[in-house]
This record gives sequence, C-alpha cells and structure tokens, in this order.
Amino acid sequence: MSVVKKILVYLSCFYLSLQLLQAQSTTIPVETLHNALVLQVNGGKDVSIIYFGRRLSDASEYDKIPNESKQKGDYTGLLNSAYTPSGSRNLVEPAITVTHADGNNSLDLRYVSHTTTKVDNDVSMLSVLLKDPVYSFEVTLYFKTFYQSDVIEQWSMIRHTEKGKVVLQKYASANLYLKAGSYWLNQYHGDWAKEMQPETAKLTHGIKTLDSKLGTRANLFQPSVFMISLDKPATEDEGSVLYGMLEWSGNFRVDLEMDNIDNLRIIAGINNYASPYTLQPNETFTTPAFLYTFSDKGKGDASRQLHRWARQYKLLDGKGSRLTLLNNWEATYFDFNETKLAALLKDTKKLGVDLFLLDDGWFANKYPRNDDHAGLGDWQENKAKLPNGIASLVRTAQTEGVKFGIWIEPEMVNPKSELYEKHPDWVIKQSKRDEYYFRNQLVLDMANPAVQDFVYKVVDSLFIKNPALAYIKWDCNAVIYNAYSAHLTNQSHFYIEYVRGLYKVLEKIRAKYPKVPMMLCSGGGGRVDYAALQYFTEFWPSDNTEPLERIFIQWEYSYFYPAITSSNHVTDWGKQPIKFRTDVAMMGKLGFDIVVSKLSGNDLSYCQQAIALYNNIKPIIWQGDQYRLSDPRESNVASVLYVNEQKTKAVVFNYLVNNRYDQGNKSPILFKGLDPTKKYSVKEVNLYPGTNSSLASNIYTGEFLMRIGFNPDVHAGRTSVILQVEAQ
Ligand code: DGJ
Repeated sequence: MSVVKKILVYLSCFYLSLQLLQAQSTTIPVETLHNALVLQVNGGKDVSIIYFGRRLSDASEYDKIPNESKQKGDYTGLLNSAYTPSGSRNLVEPAITVTHADGNNSLDLRYVSHTTTKVDNDVSMLSVLLKDPVYSFEVTLYFKTFYQSDVIEQWSMIRHTEKGKVVLQKYASANLYLKAGSYWLNQYHGDWAKEMQPETAKLTHGIKTLDSKLGTRANLFQPSVFMISLDKPATEDEGSVLYGMLEWSGNFRVDLEMDNIDNLRIIAGINNYASPYTLQPNETFTTPAFLYTFSDKGKGDASRQLHRWARQYKLLDGKGSRLTLLNNWEATYFDFNETKLAALLKDTKKLGVDLFLLDDGWFANKYPRNDDHAGLGDWQENKAKLPNGIASLVRTAQTEGVKFGIWIEPEMVNPKSELYEKHPDWVIKQSKRDEYYFRNQLVLDMANPAVQDFVYKVVDSLFIKNPALAYIKWDCNAVIYNAYSAHLTNQSHFYIEYVRGLYKVLEKIRAKYPKVPMMLCSGGGGRVDYAALQYFTEFWPSDNTEPLERIFIQWEYSYFYPAITSSNHVTDWGKQPIKFRTDVAMMGKLGFDIVVSKLSGNDLSYCQQAIALYNNIKPIIWQGDQYRLSDPRESNVASVLYVNEQKTKAVVFNYLVNNRYDQGNKSPILFKGLDPTKKYSVKEVNLYPGTNSSLASNIYTGEFLMRIGFNPDVHAGRTSVILQVEAQ
C-alpha cells in the first residue's frame, strides 16, 4: 500500500471512530434568549463545543451540526474541547496545565456528570464535572446564564485528592470555540491619558495573546475587554460579534488561537505569568469568571445587552442613583487649606452639584503630602493644611447643604513616609535590589493580612470619625515592580494573593458600608473590570478630560460599561467652550473639576442650568439604552442617543469632532431605538446664555426620525448640540 493510501485509510478509520463516538453522545445546550453554546459529550467522554452562535428553534437539531462539517485535521479530538487539558492528547494551547503530586505533567479530563440549576426565571447555572481517569484530579466548569440579556459568566473550580501538592501551571476560566470564515479582533491599547485606543485586525493562524503583567493598574497598557466579529468586522447594527472580558483586577491572559482547521479557540483567565499555583489536596482553586455576550445584530445590540445585565446584576447599586460633584484636584492640586476649601464648599452649593470631593494632599505630617513624592501611607490629616481636621470640613459641607467625599490611595506608599519607616516589610520590593518607582511610590503587599487590615482601617476610620462622609475616590497609581511579598512563603502565589487580598478588604468595607458611592480610579481607567465594579459605583475612565479626546475614550468604554459607571468631569483641559466640555461630561456621571469662582457670569449660569437639566435627564442616561448614531472615527460629527425603557424619552448628544473648513451635519442623523408609531417632539436644550437654537421645535413620528433622521445642525458655530426627545 502506498504511503498516501495508508494515510487515507488511517484518516478514515480515525474519522469513523470519531463518528462512532458521536453516535453515543449527549448534547448539553446552554441557551439564552437569542444564543446557544452547545456542549457535547462523546462516547469517549470528551466534552466538546459543537456550536456557538444564534440558537436554533429546534434544540434537537444541535446534534446534527457536527455531521455538516467536513473540516479535517483534528488529530486529537480536542481542538474544540470545552476545557483543553495538556500533556495527554492535546497539541494546542491548553486551558489547564498541571504538575501532579508525582511530578507527572499529563492531564486528561473526561465527563462525569452535569447539573443544571435554575436560580430564578432569568438565571440558570450549568455545572459540568470532569475528572482525570488516571489521577484524582477534577475540574468543574460553571456556566451561569442570564437568559434575557444573552450574557454568560463562565469559570472553573479545580481540585484534587492526590497524595501531595499539585502545581497548576495554567488555570483558565473558560475555553470557547468559534467557527466562521474569518475572525476580526477588536482590541484596545493605551497608557496614561490614552486609554481605550481601539485596533481591529483579522486574526491569522496561530495565537494572539492579550495580557497584562502589571499586577495593579493591570489595564494600563491593555484591558482584557475585546470583541471578535465573525466573517467580517461587525458594525454598530450589523454583524455577528462576541464581547469578552475577564472579571479580575490583576494580571490576565486571553489567548486567541486560530487552529489548523480554521476555527477560533478562545482561552481566558488569570495570567499564569510567574504564577504557578500550588494546590493542596482537597483545596479548591476557583478561577474568576470570564464574561461574554454575543449578538448577530452588531456591536450596538451586544453592548446594550451587556449594559442591561451590568445594571441589573453586577454593578454595585446599578439601578440606583449617583451624586454629581465638584472635585478640587485640578482646581488646587496639593495647594489648599481650610479657607480655600471653605470657599470651594460654597462653590459646590453655588454650582448646584450634590457633593464636594476633596482630592489628594490632605494627609501626612512628618512627610507632608505637598506633592507626589511624600506622605502616601500616612492617612492622618495634615495639621498645617487642615488644623481642624476632616470632621470640620464635613460639618462645613453640611452647613452649606452639600455632601462631602474624600480621595484615598490606600494600597500605596511613598518611601518618604512614616508607614514605610515603620513597616518596610509591608512594601512590595526585592530587598537585595534597588527600589524602582512608579509616580515616586511603591505598592503595599495586599497579600499580607496585616496590610489588608491596615487598608480596611484607612476607610473604616474615615467613616467612624466622619459618619456623614458620603463618597470615596479610591485611587491606584502605581504598577508592581520587583514583585515580592515578605509575607508569602510561595512567591508564585503573589499576584493572585494580591488581588484576593484587595477583594477581601473591599468585601469587608461593603459588608459595613454597603451603599456609599466609591469611584474606582487608577490614574485613569487602569483598573476597571466587572469584578471591581461589584464594589465600586463608578470608575474614572481617564485623566484625559480634554473633551474631544474624551468623546473618543468614552465612546470605546461605552461598548463595555454603561453610562452610569462613567465618571466624567468638566475640567480646563482643551480649548473648547464650557458648553462643549459640560455636554460631553453629561454622557455619564457628571462632575466638575474647575475653579468655579473664575467662571464668567454666563459660564456659571450655563453650568447651573446644565446641572438642572442633567438632574432631569440623568435617569435616561443612567438607566436607558444607549445607541451610537454617528461614529467620531467615521464622521465629522459624533452622535449618541439614550432612550428610556418605555421609549417615551430620549436625549441625543451631538458634537463636531473635525474643525476643518465647512465641516458639520450636511445630512440628518438617523435616530435609533424609538417607537416608530409614536410621535415625538424634538427640541434643542442646554443652550448657552444669550444664544438661540437654529432648530425649530417640531413633532415627528419615530418612523420619520429613524428613517429620514433629524439634522441637529452641528457646525463650527454650533459645535455641541443636545436634543431632548419626548413622546407626545
Ligand atoms: C490620579 C487621578 O486620576 C487624579 O484624578 C487625581 O486623583 C490624582 N491621581 C491625585 O494624585
């Protein structure tokens, strides 16, 4: 027999045996309202993904899917594994790699059982137990489905009863398998003031990895959020697209592997970089959840699904309210005293916002926090600046009729601090190496329970001393260099224990102070993810508040996080007029960081009126559905619409993003998300004092507004236009 013939016979035997195995298979569909992830257990007890995409009306047809594929070349039967083990048959990127107690590196995971539990009418949980036939090692895969919002959270629990420790070399949360003609990745990169810069590329064969090794501030260069479009890049309203992200505030790793038979394997979890995890017998390692949603109606639909889910299930107080505020960071930086702050508290009231937020610089005495070189860690009021303490400021705020909030950065320490002098062993550093600083500071060892206790007490004592304290801004400006914990015996656990330590503290804070709003800040958006947003009510997307830049940054964040989470402050960055700056900040949770006393009379009355309007429309922005109407990267006008659930009230923000000659809205903007049969009034609101709208108020059907559109008349003379849309 010729070699070619031998190979053909071998291959046909191989595929025959695969088909036989399929013949005795069990199919487990994981369905949401529109989608299905279908698992199948074959005769050999491998659990594979046979389908991911729009669900079929007749679930019995899922079984037929594999037969329709003539893709050949899976020599392992594991390319579409639901959780790919390594060291046995597998030849590609694994989801899990272990070193057993006896030093052996091979793992095979076979189906044992599965259970589906209905948590309520919307939420179900599937768990699938897998065991190694040779070693006492098991993994349970969890799929938590949110039916109406088409969202799935997936994670795994790993345990063993071997006679000794097992080392987990890789331990992903989830392993997906997609089939399409081509795969288009939308990913993000960034740096300080440059968060969420999008890039789109067609994936080629091999592995593309998105990851972070920064420890804290993990998203600084790259967040774990991404999109995969199938067959062609999805647009706002068309195309099949998966959104994925990890619920973990530390190092992450997402491997996107286009395999030898042209399918896409996605493996996501904690980054195993420098982190082999030693698991004791009977101990359980629970991975964080990988979160994903899928839509075949484009990026807009997928993002609205995610937003609804986030508000309903994930965000702290996602259905609740938020406070507008005046922050003093850019108004004073470190240079303030009680007199200045008293004036700012008056300005807070005059402006009409709910709260005054005192930023960095209020603490430390031996090494006063007068710039960013000293004082971090010493959380006592600076006596020179605040001789009467925070308590007196809180009282003054109360007298002024506003609330009071405060900035902290409790995980960090300046080498010039009493804390560092007292507890050098609490600091992350390599004692035999030179210290290396990020913003002149080091990170405290959150893996150490004593440090956890210290950090908890920073927050707790602020609340104990000032029960009326109404808001916390929690900052985190440094990444981790020279990773080392003086507390841990196993340094490989460091990055994981850091995040666990952080969550323990946040958990404890939330147990005692369940609803106090807290802003998640990391010198910008360096830390936002859905695990952190269980503890924080909002996040700071970027220190870059230049409003043109901000339109782009907020636009990209908005795919993944709803407007209610986005703290947007009006500052003096950029050359745009106050109206433009404020209008942009209104597309989220509005705040100000300006010197109110320096505003002109008109600017001040404009701001006051804008805040009054905002108080009226904020429920639509915070709780409504967001529709992106005109993309600033594709057009010279950016346009975003928010509409309430009943489709009776909407607000549309429009901005000129290109200042070249004669740019603006030549054509109407097509509205979205309205009821075509309803009649709506459309009027321009938030006009700067002394200016008139060029638009006549009129009534239109939803059909007209969505098919013909409406022209907000944005041009160089009208660079920012807000429209209020109300059903008649
Ligand atoms: C970085 C934050 O992003 C700023 O808003 C401000 O709070 C500074 N830190 C204070 O040091």
